[in-house]
Amino acid sequence: ALSASAATEMPPLPDVTGDKVQADGDFKIKFSIGTTESGAQYRGLEYFEKIVEQRSDGNIQVDLFPVAQLGDDREATSALQAGTLEMTMPSTSPLVNMFPQFAVFDLPFLFPQPEMADAVLDGEIGQQMLEDASSQGLVAIGWGENGYRQLTNSQHPVEKPEDLDGLKIRTMENDLHLDIWRTLGANPTPMSFAELFTALEQGVVDGQENPWITIESSKFNEVQDYATETNHVYTPFITLVSARFWDRLPEDYQALVRDAATKMGDYQREVSRTLNDQIKQDLKDSGMQITELSPEQVKVFQDQLEPVYEDWRDQIGGELIDDIREQV
Ligand code: PAF
Repeated sequence: ALSASAATEMPPLPDVTGDKVQADGDFKIKFSIGTTESGAQYRGLEYFEKIVEQRSDGNIQVDLFPVAQLGDDREATSALQAGTLEMTMPSTSPLVNMFPQFAVFDLPFLFPQPEMADAVLDGEIGQQMLEDASSQGLVAIGWGENGYRQLTNSQHPVEKPEDLDGLKIRTMENDLHLDIWRTLGANPTPMSFAELFTALEQGVVDGQENPWITIESSKFNEVQDYATETNHVYTPFITLVSARFWDRLPEDYQALVRDAATKMGDYQREVSRTLNDQIKQDLKDSGMQITELSPEQVKVFQDQLEPVYEDWRDQIGGELIDDIREQV
């Protein structure tokens, strides 16, 4: 079989625009993420590194650490708070214990199109959330895209909720995700992403859900024969900086890092969207059996998940949910 990753070509990194920024001091940024070097997230980080190093004239050095080498999404965030790591870019979902409003992004089928997620994240709601998340030892400086999550499993094709009966599905460490899979009749288990490949390989869990690009870059197709294009949740990435590090950075460098984070987020969304369909095709070519659902089939999942909105309304805040649902 063709290796999926061999067929995937990353677009070239854009040129760096903008003037050099002069400020005093030498700084090092260790930037950690959970996904691998062949994903869109890492490609975004390479662009961030290029911008920051060129425009600071080498005074800020950026070192990239993929595949949760320095800890998974939660551990890396704690390391930022402790001041032992400078930057990370987790999914919002494992941070809901710290920032309860992030749970709104875990609501199923909230954003029918990625551009609707952009409008909310780059608009007033998203900017307010970045401000609110700039607390507890963190500075939140931008959004990126993990993307639409798709279901994979090792047992059989899934076309309707009944097909999930009893399937052991790994979820992110997030109660709303657990609620989603329980409501659909599956048997969900929260687990750190760092343990997932082995758990799938050893059959500790039957399935998992992540965007195509993560499925491919993490080689889950080697241990999962079936996938369903559910698009059930759109997960944002949030770019976080350690407040201890941030407070040591001269203001001009803070502005540079903020600007680079915005450019990284935009670029990363573009890469993720450009590659999404190509990667789905690569996965098919590699032998994965992918079920594409008709709008009617999607609606069966949607209808069954509507109670999740009611279950979570009070906790997330009804106004926030209504605000977003009005915009999409
Ligand atoms: O599945 C997860 O835990 C997340 O989607 C991932 C891949 C770690 C990215 O934040």
